[in-house]
Amino acid sequence: MNIAVIGAGYVGLITAAGMAETGHRVICVDDDLHKIEVLNSGRMPFYEPGLEDLVERNRRAKRLEFVSHIEDAVAECQAIFICVGTPTLENGEADLSSVELVARRISECARGYHLVIEKSTVPVQTGRRLQRHFGVYRKSSQFHCDVASNPEFLREGSGVEDFFHPDRIVVGVDSEKAAALLEGIYQPVLEQSFVCPIHENCASRSRVPFVITDINSAELIKHASNSFLAMKISFINMIADLCEAVGADVGKVAEAVGMDKRIGASFLRPGVGFGGSCFPKDLQAFVRVGQDAGCDFALLREVERINQRRIDLFVNKIKEELWVVRGKRIGVWGLAFKPRTDDVRSSPPLAVIRRLLAEGALVRAYDPQAMEKAKAQAPEIEYCADAYAAAQGAEAVLALTEWEEFLRLDLMKVRQIMARPLILDGRNMFSCATMAAQGFEYVDIGSGSPARKHQLGAS
Ligand SMILES: NC(=O)c1ccc[n+]([C@@H]2O[C@H](COP(=O)([O-])OP(=O)(O)OC[C@H]3O[C@@H](n4cnc5c(N)ncnc54)[C@H](O)[C@@H]3O)[C@@H](O)[C@H]2O)c1
Repeated sequence: MNIAVIGAGYVGLITAAGMAETGHRVICVDDDLHKIEVLNSGRMPFYEPGLEDLVERNRRAKRLEFVSHIEDAVAECQAIFICVGTPTLENGEADLSSVELVARRISECARGYHLVIEKSTVPVQTGRRLQRHFGVYRKSSQFHCDVASNPEFLREGSGVEDFFHPDRIVVGVDSEKAAALLEGIYQPVLEQSFVCPIHENCASRSRVPFVITDINSAELIKHASNSFLAMKISFINMIADLCEAVGADVGKVAEAVGMDKRIGASFLRPGVGFGGSCFPKDLQAFVRVGQDAGCDFALLREVERINQRRIDLFVNKIKEELWVVRGKRIGVWGLAFKPRTDDVRSSPPLAVIRRLLAEGALVRAYDPQAMEKAKAQAPEIEYCADAYAAAQGAEAVLALTEWEEFLRLDLMKVRQIMARPLILDGRNMFSCATMAAQGFEYVDIGSGSPARKHQLGAS
C-alpha cells in the first residue's frame, strides 16, 4: 500500500522506515526543510540504534522517500499517518496546533477516500474533532475519509525493535473499512512474517495481539499506559526515599516486589526521575483530560509532583557532599534523558546541571550521543571528549544516564584523575560494593546507607 507519514521525528521516521521494510511504499513528509535535506543526503537527523541502515536500505530500494510538502504525498497515498509533535501548553494541555495544521493541509489537497490515522499522542476525543474538522474544511466534495487512532508505544533507544516486535498494536476505528485497512498495513508485523532486519533468529515470532477499539478508547489507552509507567517510577522513587530514611535497600525491595507477576520488574528503578518528550507531557495532558471531565486525577498529580522533587532531592545530595558548589568542578556522565538516544527533551540530567550552573558550579559533561542536542540547549556546559575528561580534576562525578559505556570505564583510572573520588549515582547504575572496593565515596539513591559508609580507605 502507498502510505504517507507526516512528521519525520522519532516516531514518524521509525514508522516510515519500518513500514517500508515490510513492503509498503512510504512517503515521509516533514515541514522542516533541513531535516528533509539531511534525510535525502543519506544522513540521520537524530540517533536511534538500527535506524540508519533501515532508512538507507529502503531509500535506495525506492520504497521510502522524503518530501517537504504534504500535497506531494496525499494524492498518492490512501493511508496518512499523522506523527507530528504534541508538546505541552503552559496550562498542561496538549498543544494540538501541529496536528490541526496537518489536518488543514490534508483538507486542502485531498480528493477521494483517505484513512487519516493519528499516531501522535493526543487527548481523548481528538479523533472526533478531526472528523468534524475534515467535514468543515475539506476543499473538494470528493474528499471523504475515516479517522483512526493508532497510538505508538515505541521506546526511544529501542524504537526499531519495538516497531518490528511490539507487545500489541492498538487501533481505534469507527468503521470496518478502517479496521481492515489498518490490519492490512500491519499484517507483516502482526503475523511476524517479515524477514527480521535486526535479529538473525527471532526468539519470539508469535502473532502480535491486534486490539481493535473505538477511537476514544484507543486514544485513552496511550495516555493511560504512559501514566501507569510514570506512576511505577514515582512509586519506587517514593519507596527509595523511605529506604534512605529508615535504612533499607531499595534495590532489594524493588527486585522482590517486581518478582510478583502482577507487578512486574520493569520501571521499578529509582533515580533522578523520568523525563523525555513523552512521560512528563503525557502525564500533564492526561491530568488535564481528567480534570476537564470532572474526574479526580489527584493520583497522577502526585506522580508528577514526586517526579519534580527528584531533582531537588538529588541537588540536595550533591550539596550535602560538597557543601558549597560555587567554583567547584563537577563532572557529569550522561545528558540524554535515557540511554541509547540523543534526546534531551525534559532531560533530568540537564535539569540537575542547570541548577548547579545557577549556583556557580563548573560543569564538565560527556554523553556518547546527546552532546550536540545538549549544546543547543545548554551552551554554558563544558563538553568533554569522553567520560575520563569529564571526571578529570572533578570534585564529584554525577552519573545521570545509564549508558553501558559507563559501566565499562576503568574505575581505577577515574579515581586517580578526580580531585576527590566522589560519585553521585542518579541512576543506581553502579553497585555500592564495587565502588567501595575501588576506593570511591559513593552516593546512590535509596540504599539506606550514608555515603560515607561506602568509602573504603580512599587514599
Ligand atoms: N518519541 C517517542 O518516544 C514517542 C513514543 C510514542 C509516541 N510519541 C508521540 O508521537 C508524537 C511525535 O513524537 P516525536 O518524538 O516523533 O516528535 P519529534 O518532535 O521528534 O517529531 C515531530 C516531527 O514533526 C514535524 N512536523 C511538525 N509539524 C509538521 C507539519 N505541519 N508538517 C510536517 N511535519 C511537521 C517536525 O518537524 C518533527 O520533525 C508525539 O505526539 C509524541 O508524544 C512519541
